[in-house]
Amino acid sequence: MLIRWGWLCPWLAILLAAGVLVAFGLNWWSALLAALFLVCPALLLWGLYVTRPQPDEADAPTDGMLMDWTAPFYDIYCSAIGLGEGFRAQTLRVAAIQPGEKVLDVGCGTGVLTRMAAEAAGKAGSTMGIDPGADMIRVAREKARRTGNAAGFKVAAIERLPFADAQFDVVLASLMLHHLPPATRRAGLAEVHRVLKPGGRLVVADFQQPTNLAWWLVLWPFLMMPSVADNLRGLLPNQIREAGFSRIEIRGYRAGLITFMTAVKSPQIGG
Ligand SMILES: C[S@@+](CC[C@H](N)C(=O)[O-])C[C@H]1O[C@@H](n2cnc3c(N)ncnc32)[C@H](O)[C@@H]1O
Repeated sequence: MLIRWGWLCPWLAILLAAGVLVAFGLNWWSALLAALFLVCPALLLWGLYVTRPQPDEADAPTDGMLMDWTAPFYDIYCSAIGLGEGFRAQTLRVAAIQPGEKVLDVGCGTGVLTRMAAEAAGKAGSTMGIDPGADMIRVAREKARRTGNAAGFKVAAIERLPFADAQFDVVLASLMLHHLPPATRRAGLAEVHRVLKPGGRLVVADFQQPTNLAWWLVLWPFLMMPSVADNLRGLLPNQIREAGFSRIEIRGYRAGLITFMTAVKSPQIGG
């Protein structure tokens, strides 16, 4: 119902705003023009929301923070804030994916990294991206189809991975753990540990304790947001350890805020 008739709302809002301006003495044409400018931001937002293509499947249930509404312009946004190709290339260097490996990208978003991982794993390997946001997965699938990339995509959440135990050589978690409240993050990391083969590795790129004061000045309000606060307080390596991983190593930094980390599932099954 909302989707069907939602487009009327901005126009009604414009008429209403124009009516108010007429009551203040403007003539109807000036009032309509002024109202159009007043309501334009709302109109744009509604336009984006109402006209976006509807995904053919539902989001996966999660209390993680989705970013579905950004799906159509997410890649442009990442490049604009310095998380474009250079950042992806750095993540891949840390992941060191070998031809033939089985890779899972959790919280893959529009699948930029997933598609790069699929190229690194080659024909002998396989790569799967999961995200609870159906819009993100729709965009990821579409981009893979257009570029002839072999990566597969599923709507799913990290805390309920639809895969059997010990399936993957590598799990990538890029900029997604800070979207998970603490309990979901614990459940998600345990799931990642379950689906990795013994000796398999987890590769994390995410916010860490800022290394300079300027970042603290910008980011301190996020200390009130439990999912992000854990990262800013530097708790991530310990949380990864608590999920059963060992050999947790910091492999690089970006802009004094993002850390690249690797961790290994013990080669002993159940270890
Ligand atoms: C900032 S985006 C990162 C996307 C991509 N990995 C990247 O590097 O650009 C965070 C992603 O985490 C996803 N997310 C939120 N809750 C999640 C969950 N419970 N399981 C898996 N992904 C989740 C969001 O839908 C979103 O696509």
